[in-house]
Amino acid sequence: MSLFNVYPLFDITPIAAKDVYVYDKNNKKHLDLYGGHAVISIGHSHPKYVAAISNQVKKLGFYSNSIQNPLQNQLADKLTSLSRCKGYQLFLCNSGAEANENALKLASFHTHKTNILAFKNSFHGRTSAAVVATDNARIVAPINAQQKVDFVDLGDLEAVETVLKKDKTCAVIIECIQGVGGLDESTTAFYQGLAVLCKTYNTLLIADEVQAGFGRTGDFFSFQKHHITPDIISMAKGMGNGFPVGGILIHPKIKASFGLLGTTFGGNHLACSATLAVLEVLEAEQLMQNATEVSEYFLAKANKIPKLKNVKGRGLMLGLEFDFPIAKLRKKLIHTHHIFTGSAKNPNLLRILPPLTITKQHIDQFFKALKQALA
Ligand SMILES: Cc1ncc(COP(=O)(O)O)c(C=O)c1O
Repeated sequence: MSLFNVYPLFDITPIAAKDVYVYDKNNKKHLDLYGGHAVISIGHSHPKYVAAISNQVKKLGFYSNSIQNPLQNQLADKLTSLSRCKGYQLFLCNSGAEANENALKLASFHTHKTNILAFKNSFHGRTSAAVVATDNARIVAPINAQQKVDFVDLGDLEAVETVLKKDKTCAVIIECIQGVGGLDESTTAFYQGLAVLCKTYNTLLIADEVQAGFGRTGDFFSFQKHHITPDIISMAKGMGNGFPVGGILIHPKIKASFGLLGTTFGGNHLACSATLAVLEVLEAEQLMQNATEVSEYFLAKANKIPKLKNVKGRGLMLGLEFDFPIAKLRKKLIHTHHIFTGSAKNPNLLRILPPLTITKQHIDQFFKALKQALA
C-alpha cells in the first residue's frame, strides 16, 4: 500500500533525537531550529519526560473518560499555577485543530449564534470549523465552506465591530501572534479593544495558543503580554513535546453539562503524564526565561545580517524576512549546514521555532551558517 501523498518530503530520515539535535539514519547530526513545527518545547527525549511516559505506560496507558483519572486533576492544578490563568476549567483532547473545534462549538452552544470572526492570514487547523476559520481557501472543502466566517484585517477594530453588530457571531478566534501566517502581531490597544467588543456583543473571545502557548514566546501564553482575559484558550503543540495532546481552558462563566463535549482518547493517562512532565521541566529549568534571554541574543545578532529586510516575532517564535523567497536558502541550511528551519505562508520568511532549551552557542552556530549560506 502506498502512502496518501500529501506531504512534500525532505530526503532525511531521523532515527533519534536528543535535546536540540536530531540524528538521521546515517548518524548525521542536525541542529533543530524548527522543533517539528513548534512542537518540541522541553527538548527531544528529555530524561524526565521519557521516564514519566515509560513509567506510566508500564502501569496504565489508557482508560476511557468514564472513570476517575486523578492525573487530569493534577494537570489542571499544575497548569493553573504555571500559566497563572486562575478559575478556568480544563477540557483535554488530542490536537490543535480539535482544541479549536471544541472551542468554537462551545462558543456556539454558549451564545446560540452560528458565525465565526477570524483574521486574515490566520491558521487554526484542518477540521470542520477550524479550517473554515483558517484564511486559506485551498484547504477548505465544500463541506466545510457551509459554515459562515468573516475575515477581517488584524488590527482593524472598526471592521470587527461592523461584523459583531450583526449579532450572529458566536466567537472571535485569534492567534495573538500569527504562526503559519508569518508572525504578525497587533498592538495591546487592539487586543484590549477586541476583548471589550466581544463582551459588548456577547461573542466569545478564543485565544488560539496552539503554537504560541506553553512558554514559546517567553510568556506562558502570548496573549498575556496584552493583559486580556480570553473566554477560551486553545493549546496543543508544545503541551506534549511530541506526544499528541491538546486542550482548552474555559472561563468559569461557561457552564459544563454532561455530554456537551467528549472524546475517546483526550486526557488519557499517557497524555497527562507527558504534559505534566513538560510543565515540571518548563518550571524547573526556567525555560520561559531562557526563551526570553536567547531571543534577545538572536535579535541582536539578526540585526547585523546585511541582506535581511525584517526580523519578526518574539520569544522563540521568530522569523527572518528577506526580499527574496527563502526556499533555496532553507534547503541549503538543511543539506549543507544540517540545520532545520521552517517556512511560512509568506514565501520570504524563514521561521525559527527551536526547543526552548536552545542556548546562545546554538544561535552562534546558526548565524555562522546563515552568513555562509547567504554569501
Ligand atoms: C495556531 C495554530 N492553531 C491550530 C493548529 C492546528 O494544530 P494541529 O495540527 O495539531 O491540528 C496549528 C498548527 O500548525 C496552529 O499553528
